[in-house]
Amino acid sequence: MNGLSSHNTKPNGMANDYPKPVRALPASWYRSNAMFQLERRAIFSKRWLMVSHTVRFLNAGDYLHLVVAGFSFFLVKGRDEEIYAHHNVCRHRGHPLVEQESGKLAALACKYHGWSYRFNGSLAKAPQYQELPSFDKSDNGLFRIHTYIDRLGFIWVNLDSSDEPALQWDEAFTSAVTHERFEHFNMEDYHFDHQWNMTCKTSLLHLGEPMLWFMDVAQQTALPALS
Ligand code: FES
Repeated sequence: MNGLSSHNTKPNGMANDYPKPVRALPASWYRSNAMFQLERRAIFSKRWLMVSHTVRFLNAGDYLHLVVAGFSFFLVKGRDEEIYAHHNVCRHRGHPLVEQESGKLAALACKYHGWSYRFNGSLAKAPQYQELPSFDKSDNGLFRIHTYIDRLGFIWVNLDSSDEPALQWDEAFTSAVTHERFEHFNMEDYHFDHQWNMTCKTSLLHLGEPMLWFMDVAQQTALPALS
């Protein structure tokens, strides 16, 4: 064999010390429902997920509805200034409590049969149930989700259904917000005045700009020929 023969062999019989090629994940992993369900159980139900920022919640009742890996839940600011996260499921018959993507709640009431909850998730009123001797309001609050707010104000959730998540935030992110590049930011100086998806679209514009330019040119040159 002479000269360059393959990407794993050096010329002239020299020792082969090129890195081995790395295989990507099997394509089926991106499509498999079984793999998705495994990821929901092993990752999305156990790990900390960063979902928003405190600047998004200025007043009591401000809420944000999210669906992550098929889990529908919402964040809401309480009257005590805390930010709570709850599964978007009424404890009576499972009707969703919030339906818009975001907004401000005056009260957290289910539109189906009128059960209402405090922003911290405890049950406030359950018409026709609360008078029953066997009915305990304290057993019928919303299913709460663990939250953590890091020192920069980012809001994390953990959907672990245990009373205490198996993985504490500090264990998972020992140095995530201690990097020195963050030391010059005071997040309280920032005010939320737009939607997150505007930020995403702006970022995507940068990433996709060459393609958008190409499509623009292609459209301008192709349309006259099609008309
Ligand atoms: S499902 Fe919510 S009050 Fe009945």
